[in-house]
Amino acid sequence: MTRIVILISGRGSNMEALFKAADAGLLPVTFAAVLSNCAQAGGLKTAAERGIATAVIDHKVFPDRSAFDSALMAAIDRHAPDLVVLAGFMRVLTDAFVIHYAGRLLNIHPALLPAFPGLHTHERALAAGVKLHGCTVHFVTPEVDVGPIVIQAAVPVLDDDTPKTLAERVLAQEHQIYPQAIRWFAEGRLQITPPGRVRLQAKSRPALAGCVAPSLD
Ligand code: GRF
Repeated sequence: MTRIVILISGRGSNMEALFKAADAGLLPVTFAAVLSNCAQAGGLKTAAERGIATAVIDHKVFPDRSAFDSALMAAIDRHAPDLVVLAGFMRVLTDAFVIHYAGRLLNIHPALLPAFPGLHTHERALAAGVKLHGCTVHFVTPEVDVGPIVIQAAVPVLDDDTPKTLAERVLAQEHQIYPQAIRWFAEGRLQITPPGRVRLQAKSRPALAGCVAPSLD
């Protein structure tokens, strides 16, 4: 089984979506640990209640980003993961960290990359007047929010949307596509081809790469 370590900074609803997919028999993974840079992260309690190992590595006690990332790497590697999943982990990672987990580090971003990398994506989408917004699961590379894209889901932007209503619509899709991406990873079906495209290898029938609002298949 694919061993997963999840990194969170907050409520952990994406993490919970992974738990639910696993409970439903749709995600063939073992949750080895959930780690956070923030002791107040609500998701830590959720994970602990499931009996999953949790730990806090508080970035504020380290002198710099590099020292924090070294400690985080040590905490992660203790669990020998096949895949590290960023699920609302709100820290920029050093190149050394990202390179250490090359090809086995996934992130979910609340926008249709390459549009709106960085923070406040829903506010920026509304300000730009886009008619479609969404979310992206991608492999992490040193440059923030530009790694190879695994899957995206789009939602309409409505005239009366606020950042909150748009965020809710996007989050519902995040909870669909992250389990799907991780399932594909666990099945060994994701291949990164130069210059950074992800190909979905067929299972028993031709795969639908780049589909919108996919289902677990
Ligand atoms: C999600 O919108 C995710 O895309 C972003 O941070 C948020 C985390 O939410 N990176 P949650 O902690 O998974 O509920």
